Amino acid sequence: MVHDTTVLMDEKRVFKPSEDVKNRAHVKDWDAEIEKGKDLDKYWSEQAEQFEWFKKWDKVLDDSEKPFYKWFTGGKINLAYNAVDRWIETEKRNQIAILYINERGHEKKITYYELYLEVNKLANALKNLGVKKGDTVSMYLPMCPELLIALLACNKIGAVHSVVYSGLSVGAFVDRMNDAKAKVLFTADGTYRRGKIIDLKKIADEAILQCPTIETIVVVKHTGSDIEISELSGREIFYERLVEGEPVDCPPEPMDAEDPLFILYTSGSTGKPKGVMHTTAGYMVGVATTLRNIFDIHEDDMWWCTGDIGWITGHSYVIYGPLLLGTTTVVYEGAPDYPDLGVWWKIVEKYGVTKFYTAPTAIRHLMRFGARYTNLYNLSSLRILGTVGEPINPEAWMWYYTNVGKEKCPIMDTWWQTETGMHLISPLPVSPLKPGSCTRAFPGIDAQVVDEEGNQVPLGKGGYLVVKNPWPSMFRTLYKDKERFLDVYWKDIPGCVYKAGDMVRQDEDGYFWIQGRSDDVLKIAGHRIGSAEVESAFVSHPAVAEAAVIGRSDPIKGEVIKAFVILREGNELKTQLIEDLKKHVRYELGPVAVLGEIVEVDKLPKTRSGKIMRRILRAQEEGEDLGDTSTLEE
Ligand code: PRX
Repeated sequence: MVHDTTVLMDEKRVFKPSEDVKNRAHVKDWDAEIEKGKDLDKYWSEQAEQFEWFKKWDKVLDDSEKPFYKWFTGGKINLAYNAVDRWIETEKRNQIAILYINERGHEKKITYYELYLEVNKLANALKNLGVKKGDTVSMYLPMCPELLIALLACNKIGAVHSVVYSGLSVGAFVDRMNDAKAKVLFTADGTYRRGKIIDLKKIADEAILQCPTIETIVVVKHTGSDIEISELSGREIFYERLVEGEPVDCPPEPMDAEDPLFILYTSGSTGKPKGVMHTTAGYMVGVATTLRNIFDIHEDDMWWCTGDIGWITGHSYVIYGPLLLGTTTVVYEGAPDYPDLGVWWKIVEKYGVTKFYTAPTAIRHLMRFGARYTNLYNLSSLRILGTVGEPINPEAWMWYYTNVGKEKCPIMDTWWQTETGMHLISPLPVSPLKPGSCTRAFPGIDAQVVDEEGNQVPLGKGGYLVVKNPWPSMFRTLYKDKERFLDVYWKDIPGCVYKAGDMVRQDEDGYFWIQGRSDDVLKIAGHRIGSAEVESAFVSHPAVAEAAVIGRSDPIKGEVIKAFVILREGNELKTQLIEDLKKHVRYELGPVAVLGEIVEVDKLPKTRSGKIMRRILRAQEEGEDLGDTSTLEE
């Protein structure tokens, strides 16, 4: 869906940073920093100096095999060592690294030293399970401390992690797990969701029946639901038993800069989900640099990113960015509206959160109640706010700025993707802001708006968003699918530039205004879901012969699914079947696949080669011109 930011936005309306924000900021001069970023080698090597390397790199950027770029080649480093071990020799040793809070108001504080002990114990236990450098370990866990510990333990020994979002269900889980071919899976007895406990283990149990590579299942007792040891089969073990008696030290594995760090699945417009592969050193440099400069992280910060670790936002900015900078990261397990609509602001007040990063959908959800809930709490600890995941409409921006930030906190509207690993287009705290624009590219990033031939379009005209130069935390490939990597991202636009899949426009100040996806990817409450995935969930139901789905605008979620189905003979789309289909899609994909409407059709628009033309359905839906229909079957 294309958010019609063009109608609502006011490009002339500019918000300038206060003196206080400017005085504290790490970067004082936006233009000068962008200028510095033009020397890629110098800029990124200076950023890389923030870490402890076992061996420094020989070359900052190796672009000899475009687009298979390599960064910091020859360097040896370990992420967990830099995110945890190195802090315990400093005054941060007893500082809180992870502040876990859940919707029931329970909290757990883990200091850097405690985290060090836990990561080492689990790293040793993983080794005992036979996990070696390069092996894949999967997680299907709620937002709980063990998830962060498990990811860091993988890094410590050089294992590659692959997290499946705990809001995804059986079908989505099986696809991802079987592609990654994990040996070990972490799951939990459950997760808290709006007053209920969702039985994750049950979903995992069903999915695992179709996942032959898994040798061991580690079960975290998180909610304390009754799972008896006796119920566990031979390949299952409780987390607490697994780490019992393990030594509390574990040497970090010296990783090559380009060794794989993790795979994270994301949706494309066609086919199965894509295993986005990130590697070690460049990823570390990218996320730490962007978090420090965009959210201006200092020693005394209480950082809270509400994203889930099951998505890239959580990987980069709940766990890795904050720990690499040695700050405290809040890990919250719960929704923004449970037990009431003030729960987030209560947490901000209680823990003195200084930087707060969330998604526009949550803001739109909360703004319906005006200032009623934000006024109940003291939000004066906040210094900088942020958004991510979809365009933020100017009204939501203004509500956030006024009611949460009390007109003193700049809003960092950060544009980026699973593939980019780090923020690519975003203001810095000192930047003049325009509500609804993610402003300009981060230093070192050459983002442009082009037409299909790759020609830069004039300011004010819409086009494809491309990135013309490499950046350290870019994904390196799609797991086991180099061809798809090349085809999807690098071939459409001439000149070997990265095609992001978004439509965008630049205004006369060069500010970017993202208009939405240019492909068949849906954005439901900021979550990325491929139309093809939803369609295949539909057709796996016995009553459905064919299905096509598109996004339908929704005032809160941005988009919800509108499905067009052709039913098999003998079926009618009555209330019962609609309910069954909703349940079925939810079973296959999870609650992220929000169904707005299902309609029955007897034909779908297709090309002569049989590809569904969702564009035609979308145009019909919006009452727009159908555009070029020359390839339509009939
Ligand atoms: O369409 C853009 C939108 O989210 C897509 C990337 O989705 P995903 O890989 O799931 O990562 C989301 C979190 C980084 C983009 O192609 N998007 C992300 N941030 C913004 C955005 N759209 C507008 N403004 C943003 N700030």
